Amino acid sequence: MTRSGAAHQPGVLSIPPLRRLWIALSFSGLGDWLGLLALTASAVAVSADDGFAMQAYAIAGTLLAWTLPQALPASAMATPVHGLDRRVTLAALGALRAVLTASAALLGQPVWLIAAALLISLAGAVAQAAVDATAPGLVPEDRAEDARRLVRRTGHGAAPAAAVLFALLALAAGALTSGDARSDLPLYATAVVFVLSAVAAFGTPPGPVAAARPAAPRQGERPGKATRAVPGLRGLLVGLIGAFAAGGAVLGVARIQVATLHGGDAGFGAMVGAAFLGMAFGVFQGPRMLGPFSRRRLLGLSVVAASLVLAAIALIHDLVVVVVLTGVLGWTVGVAWSTARAVVQETAEEPLRGPARAFLRSVLRAVLVVVTAAAPACAGAIGRHRLELGSDAVYRFDGPNAVLLAVALLTLVVGLVTYRRLDDRRGIPLVPDVRAALRGEVYVPPAAEPQPARDRGVFIAFEGGEGAGKTTQARLTAIWLRDHGYDVVTTSEPGATKIGMRLRAILLDKETKDLSARAETLLYAADRANHVANVIEPALARGAIVVSDRYLDSSLAYQGFGRGQSVEEIAEVNRWATGGLLPDLTVLLDVPPETGFGRFASPADRMESEPMEFHERVRQGFRRLAEADPDRYLVIDASLPQEEITRLIRDRLHDILPDPVPAGTEEITSTFPAISD
Ligand code: TYD
Repeated sequence: MTRSGAAHQPGVLSIPPLRRLWIALSFSGLGDWLGLLALTASAVAVSADDGFAMQAYAIAGTLLAWTLPQALPASAMATPVHGLDRRVTLAALGALRAVLTASAALLGQPVWLIAAALLISLAGAVAQAAVDATAPGLVPEDRAEDARRLVRRTGHGAAPAAAVLFALLALAAGALTSGDARSDLPLYATAVVFVLSAVAAFGTPPGPVAAARPAAPRQGERPGKATRAVPGLRGLLVGLIGAFAAGGAVLGVARIQVATLHGGDAGFGAMVGAAFLGMAFGVFQGPRMLGPFSRRRLLGLSVVAASLVLAAIALIHDLVVVVVLTGVLGWTVGVAWSTARAVVQETAEEPLRGPARAFLRSVLRAVLVVVTAAAPACAGAIGRHRLELGSDAVYRFDGPNAVLLAVALLTLVVGLVTYRRLDDRRGIPLVPDVRAALRGEVYVPPAAEPQPARDRGVFIAFEGGEGAGKTTQARLTAIWLRDHGYDVVTTSEPGATKIGMRLRAILLDKETKDLSARAETLLYAADRANHVANVIEPALARGAIVVSDRYLDSSLAYQGFGRGQSVEEIAEVNRWATGGLLPDLTVLLDVPPETGFGRFASPADRMESEPMEFHERVRQGFRRLAEADPDRYLVIDASLPQEEITRLIRDRLHDILPDPVPAGTEEITSTFPAISD
């Protein structure tokens, strides 16, 4: 269970201080989850005489009280205990939770149960945050991230263990006791686990609750910023919200649904345990699933699968089947999560990955808080119903069934939208794509295989002033095109060839002082001539898509408009240098120079060191060039969110690129660029 972190990071638990802290954390986490289940079961027991709706509201209240503190940011939770002695703090928090849990059993009051759930969860969140802050300081610096991950996984990993333990306790309670005492046994057992966590706290190394060294810098980034900087993050988030809403709804109504299926606390434990075990398995297996299959497609599919499984859970009235399906649902949610992580890994630059994941995590926690509480509340409001299906056939359709079915339908819509939005293999049929992936292969549409690369490729240039983000967008475009199976050559000016590198050194070196404007123009043109002859033309000739970071328009804008030379003459020189080669599409990322320069610390080269007015002229130059030939340009405001820019570029590329799927039509395929594996 909680060792899952250790399995991924061999060795980190062999560091004794961390191991001792981890033991205390394991008890603490186990107690927290066990407490949640025991309190939920108890809420049902104490409101048993008040009817179905009241039971459902009691569960909603307990779940809301318990989940709310878990959604608060860890940094805020650690603040009240910052600097206090770590052993005393953890022991006190353990003891406090033990007392609260025992008092819930002794008093047996619904309101106190909910208050106790809130306080226990709050104390648990503080303990977890205290451990979070402490763990990285107990290991060598290069293992700090491993320690953080271990702590996080232990917190989650305790859930399935707690559910299994709870189911066993419920079975024991059923065999040994009766009446109210049945729901008390798990509560007392939870109190014992908390006492153990308090005892284990004294085994942890002494010292204050504090980060011994500051967290990795990326943790200091505001996660919200990451949404704008990581392309497609919003699409991922929508899909994940669908999957987690499905999971949350099941957990929320699990206890009352089990009751409508004539199950008890043991069934409830089994259902929750199945959900978390399934999820853990999905998280573990997700990255290995369908090896070469598109991760974006997989994410959409897992959300759709979650919705279908949820619909089955809603409609099938058999406890064993429901428990098994809940495990499958957990698995789909786990696959969705790990797949989304993989997509973030692929698309986000290193410093943004951590904040992007943290952002996803925090939104999903909030979703779980809302859904797990709202689901039982709605189920209670809907009440219990019987559908008469004939003379003696009756189908029970109670609140939980209705809520789960409604969430399933919403999740289905979200899943389909996600699939469409994220699909990076548009036009490629799904079934053969999955079948090929099962064999470990990438599916290539049959008619595309013998297709000779007899057509010229497509030439796309990215232009713009300094700091416009061309390089990033060119890179994302190339990745996307490759994902579609195109043969893509990414290149840039100046300096794409060996000779070009030497010209670039002369052109951009700040030490180059006496270069006349005409000489500069000719050197850029010389670089371009060599670039076209050695890189661009051969690639186009074999049918590839060439994505170039800058091309001819840079000379027109910088050497023409910027330096005040004749744009026509520069165009003429370049026409000769390139043999008249023009891009099929020029993407102009338009940004005011002040904004562009704000994106880096200081001017790095000779061109960037030109005054602001020069760069303003360059910007206006680019815009005039684009206005003069709108069909060949896509002008984008570079201050838009990055993912929006990426989307605009892709939309426009769809127009100029043939669909990579031949769909059996010779006419279309004959205009294809080469499609490579
Ligand atoms: P580079 O370091 O490649 O960065 P970026 O393209 O991201 O700005 O810088 C190339 C510089 O050369 C840039 O300041 C623009 C300038 N340039 C011209 O002035 N004329 C040209 O024809 C080209 C291709 C570039």
